[in-house]
Amino acid sequence: MAFYAQQLSRGFSSSAVRNVVIKHVTIIGSGQMGAGIAQVAASTGHTVTLVDTSDDILKKSVKGIEGSLKRVVKKKFADKPEAGEEFIQKVLQSVATSSDAETAVQTSDLVLEAIVENVKIKQDLFGRLDKLAPAHTVFASNTSSLPISDIASSTSRLDRFGGLHFFNPVPMMKLVEVVRTSETSQETFDSLLNFSKALGKTPVSCKDTPGFIVNRLLVPYMAEALRLYERGHGSKEDIDVAMKLGAGYPMGPFELSDYVGLDTMKFIIDGWSAAEPENPLFAPSELLNKLVAEGKYGKKTGEGFYKYK
Ligand code: NAI
Repeated sequence: MAFYAQQLSRGFSSSAVRNVVIKHVTIIGSGQMGAGIAQVAASTGHTVTLVDTSDDILKKSVKGIEGSLKRVVKKKFADKPEAGEEFIQKVLQSVATSSDAETAVQTSDLVLEAIVENVKIKQDLFGRLDKLAPAHTVFASNTSSLPISDIASSTSRLDRFGGLHFFNPVPMMKLVEVVRTSETSQETFDSLLNFSKALGKTPVSCKDTPGFIVNRLLVPYMAEALRLYERGHGSKEDIDVAMKLGAGYPMGPFELSDYVGLDTMKFIIDGWSAAEPENPLFAPSELLNKLVAEGKYGKKTGEGFYKYK
């Protein structure tokens, strides 16, 4: 009731927000995930504004996108290098950058957040942007582990808020988990589903439950690999080889943890263990805490369980 009153007081009705076709996307956070999503969105005919806290970070991200596009083009345009170069330039021209989120969201159909995995920081961001984004704009979070409804609670657009959970590396991974809360409207859900398909991804529908589908199964597996190693039951190298050759996984659990980011993994495990302290699947790991305290976050910092320099 209070929500409808708020909507009316802002001068629009729910009919204004039907079937949003997402063409212009503002992506907040230009790290591993945000840059990957920007690349895929721009490669599939969308215009993108990529936002981060500084121009230096954004420059690095765009360089990363260019490097990734070069790898794509090498395969896709093997016989036509000129067409490949043209494709790269076209994609890069579709990506604008900004360190001013408030201005960037004012022309967006979708605001997709991929910043640090911290509910207060995400709430603060969306709370500020809610006041400035147009009425039709859909908000979505790429969170790995936080309830979408908690993040959405700082806004007055609960019906236009959902989760879009991509996987790393975004250009290669086909899946998107499209998350609907109890408040997400059918129109918003359909818009997010159609956007995922327009990116060339395969969406699956998820409820707003911890870890959605993939991480609810994957994170306890990775944490158990850590505990196995901490107990001295196997070296990390042997555990990785075992799961690759024995289970047919493309990466072992330590390689995957380094790839995901140990800071992100720690956020996930800490959050879940605070919510369910008795659940042994969510027990914190001393080794993980130590590596994160040392700033060893995995591939993105050059060292995690393994060294990448
Ligand atoms: P990252 O650390 O690589 O990038 C985060 C970026 O957000 C950084 O460039 C940082 O400067 C920027 N940032 C932080 N606060 C900001 C703010 N207030 N405004 C604008 N920019 C801000 O992190 P990563 O790995 O890209 O993860 C981002 C989100 O995606 C997290 O919520 C994570 O849980 C989720 N995610 C991560 C996956 C992974 O494999 N790394 C997979 C799927 C989801």
